[in-house]
Amino acid sequence: MTSHTRFISMGWLFSRLLLLALVLRFLVVRMAVNLTHGFRRKMVNIESKYNPQRYWEQRGQTFIQEEYQRGLYWQHDWMLDKLRTCQPEHVLEIGCGFGRNLRFLQSHLDGKTHYCGVDFSLSMLFQAQTYLGESAQPLAAADALHLPFADGSFDLVVIHGVFMHIPPEQVLAATREARRVARKHIIQCEQNYSGLQPNSQGVVKINDVTFAYDYARLFAQNGLIVAEHRSVKDLDAFLLTKRAAKYDVPEPILLEKLFPEFSHALILPLVVVGSRVLDVGCATGYLGRYFAEQKACIVDGVEPDPEAASVAKQFYRNVWVGNVENQELLEGISNPYDVVLCAAVLEHLARPDLVLKRLRRLISPDGRIIISLPNIAHWTVRWALLRGRFDYEEYGLLDRTHLRFFTIRTARQLIEDAGYHIDSFQFSTPGVTELEKPLLSLPRGGYRLRRFLLGRFPELFGYELIFVARKQ
Ligand SMILES: C[S@@+](CC[C@H](N)C(=O)[O-])C[C@H]1O[C@@H](n2cnc3c(N)ncnc32)[C@H](O)[C@@H]1O
Repeated sequence: MTSHTRFISMGWLFSRLLLLALVLRFLVVRMAVNLTHGFRRKMVNIESKYNPQRYWEQRGQTFIQEEYQRGLYWQHDWMLDKLRTCQPEHVLEIGCGFGRNLRFLQSHLDGKTHYCGVDFSLSMLFQAQTYLGESAQPLAAADALHLPFADGSFDLVVIHGVFMHIPPEQVLAATREARRVARKHIIQCEQNYSGLQPNSQGVVKINDVTFAYDYARLFAQNGLIVAEHRSVKDLDAFLLTKRAAKYDVPEPILLEKLFPEFSHALILPLVVVGSRVLDVGCATGYLGRYFAEQKACIVDGVEPDPEAASVAKQFYRNVWVGNVENQELLEGISNPYDVVLCAAVLEHLARPDLVLKRLRRLISPDGRIIISLPNIAHWTVRWALLRGRFDYEEYGLLDRTHLRFFTIRTARQLIEDAGYHIDSFQFSTPGVTELEKPLLSLPRGGYRLRRFLLGRFPELFGYELIFVARKQ
């Protein structure tokens, strides 16, 4: 190789390296620009999206100074009146803010009632400490979606202007939580929209942080019944002129917790208005009461416990007191029914198969039978069995009064073998179980993933199984 060729190849190599360096530089600069733009775009999206906790943390700093926030209105008197009637011992306010309602209620009632307030905004709670002063009740930082209290901890739960600020994808879970911790009553007071109809999801977006919900639907989905509902019409001039023009003014609602199981809430929409219903194992008649009062149904029941039956008689046309396994008792019933309801009852019987066969006679030609049964293959029971445990409990899947146990497959078999064709199947899930808790730290509480998992593995996550069937 001559020195000339060596020189050419060095020059060629150098020019190629230079070109490569230029191309690389160009690519790196482009990538950096794109990344920064993308990041900025993302930032803008995040900022413009309603993040409830961040929003209330910020607004909480000055909320107490906002005009009208410290005011007391018609609905406050109404609330006080309800509290005097219900005489609750333990009251929880969800989303208590700086403590306006707590201070009002506490100063007007005797010392026998214990109050507690929760809010997820620390700045609000900080204001509440000062505003409530000496009388500061226990206050806790908690999200309405995951309340740190056991089931039925409070006789009464108060919610004032909070759910209207909870986004649509979370509002059902929030109602569920309120219902879970309430022993008997909830008072809810929310601003609503007067101009528009809710969309098919039951919501109208009023602005970026305010939503008007179809509360009747929301409550029914959660097994809550409206005991009293008032639209505030007779407010002072301010509310009527300034707000009512655009929004309905706050609507106080007294809710009564009627259904012990969430699965019952799923059964409500399955019964058509005006149906003739036979409620087998009707207990105190909470389901029948709903159907009679809210859906103009004619309801009869069968119940072995005479005390429970006497309560149910207030709402039912007939209640037969006795065991549904008693053939003579069933033969004494001759009415045809549009719906025969066996909600959480067949698992208490020795021969549910025979009872199902006998009930066929009572179902009208177009009628349906609705059956709910606990799923013994739920992951909590499997996990306990893996550890060698099968301990009966006071209620739930291993209720000590259960005689029979079913999986989805054996429940289907039971119904079909009794001469029915299954039209639909769904299942309820209890609140967030231990297995699901880690998912709560994901964005939006891992809602979508949880829904996917629950839907994908009903035999593991289904708690109460609900079938609608007709005679074959
Ligand atoms: C309009 S303020 C009403 C405050 C108070 N209830 C009143 O009537 O004066 C709404 C309150 O709900 C709280 N809040 C909103 N979403 C919440 C959630 N998911 N969990 C707990 N508090 C929430 C906010 O922090 C705020 O204090």
